[in-house]
Amino acid sequence: MPLPINNLKRRPAARRKRIHGAVERVLESGWYVLGPELEGFEEEFAAFVGTKHAIGVANGTDALELSLRLLECGQGDEIITVANAGGYSVTAILKTGATPVCVDVDGETLNMSPAELEVAITDRTKAIIVTHLYGRMAELEKISAIADDAGLPLIEDCAQAHGAAKGRRRAGSWGLIGCFSFYPTKNLGAFGDAGALATDDAQLAETAKQLRQYGWKRKYETGKVLGMNSRMDEIQAAILRELLSFVDEDNLRRRAIIDTYRRELSAKSELILPPPGAEPDQTDFAAHLCILRSRERDAIRSHLAAHQIASDIHYPVPDHKQAAFNERVRVAGPLRETERAAQEILTVPCFPEMTAHEIDMVVSALVGYDPGASTN
Ligand SMILES: Cc1ncc(COP(=O)(O)O)c(C=O)c1O
Repeated sequence: MPLPINNLKRRPAARRKRIHGAVERVLESGWYVLGPELEGFEEEFAAFVGTKHAIGVANGTDALELSLRLLECGQGDEIITVANAGGYSVTAILKTGATPVCVDVDGETLNMSPAELEVAITDRTKAIIVTHLYGRMAELEKISAIADDAGLPLIEDCAQAHGAAKGRRRAGSWGLIGCFSFYPTKNLGAFGDAGALATDDAQLAETAKQLRQYGWKRKYETGKVLGMNSRMDEIQAAILRELLSFVDEDNLRRRAIIDTYRRELSAKSELILPPPGAEPDQTDFAAHLCILRSRERDAIRSHLAAHQIASDIHYPVPDHKQAAFNERVRVAGPLRETERAAQEILTVPCFPEMTAHEIDMVVSALVGYDPGASTN
């Protein structure tokens, strides 16, 4: 497709130079896994998020699983989450033996509904995972208060929200643990898989470091059972250190693209545009993905494809409807908003390197969409 959802080939020359330099540093050092680059990244990323510690791991799903293992979640425990966030939390929960309990989302933000969370808490609830979906921070003031009142730990899934902030507090610094993915398409993306946990708790940080490497307390000495091999390698860490300094400017650019879509498409009554962030300057919206909504979603996708514009659906099948999870995902009540959204959402191109012409291509194609002419 001439206009893709994302284009990772377009690295500006200055960044390419820094990436080459980072890889060269690692080559020169001859140290490839868990070394000085990762230590440097962990320190710099913790400072960025605003936590005392960050622990680099192999990917975001491992970060979620490790966070649950740190809290000793297992069989008989319920973990409350949402069903519209791609199944990553549910997968991590199931791996620990605990039961995912999904609550409905807010119909506008598509993030966890605090009211639905509150009524889903039972004696068996062990933790809450809140996802900042599409880069939009969830209602953390309310959700943290509910978690605190119930004495429950809050885990934030920040895989789509690097750099987003409410007031001066970034995503990942609100809960007991923040989990991040650095999958290449993320707002901070590595050149392969990588992830991290962020926390203020020194004990949790220390245990996470053990669990990410076989449960070792020190070399060949097991301190914790059921450790994993979930290490971040030095090349990823070195590259992430370079790219970290661009996250805030990239997020501004992402938001500006969505602002343009919102402005130019506001007259199209068949489209619902993503709401702006709630904070001044929309700092709580990292604009990871641009999600439109329409009852005519499928016809609009065909129309975009005819104009050589890629689109996607994040995500088409809610977790409680995934056949493979087979009854293992519980719902706290009807997930009306979750299910409605799955029929209507549509992701259109939004990435920092998009040109004005490409933004215009998307706008013109959508302005030119004529519901009456649709054959779908
Ligand atoms: C919301 C969310 N959580 C978790 C993950 C899992 O991260 P990873 O692919 O690094 O395992 C992703 C992305 O892939 C994600 O979008």
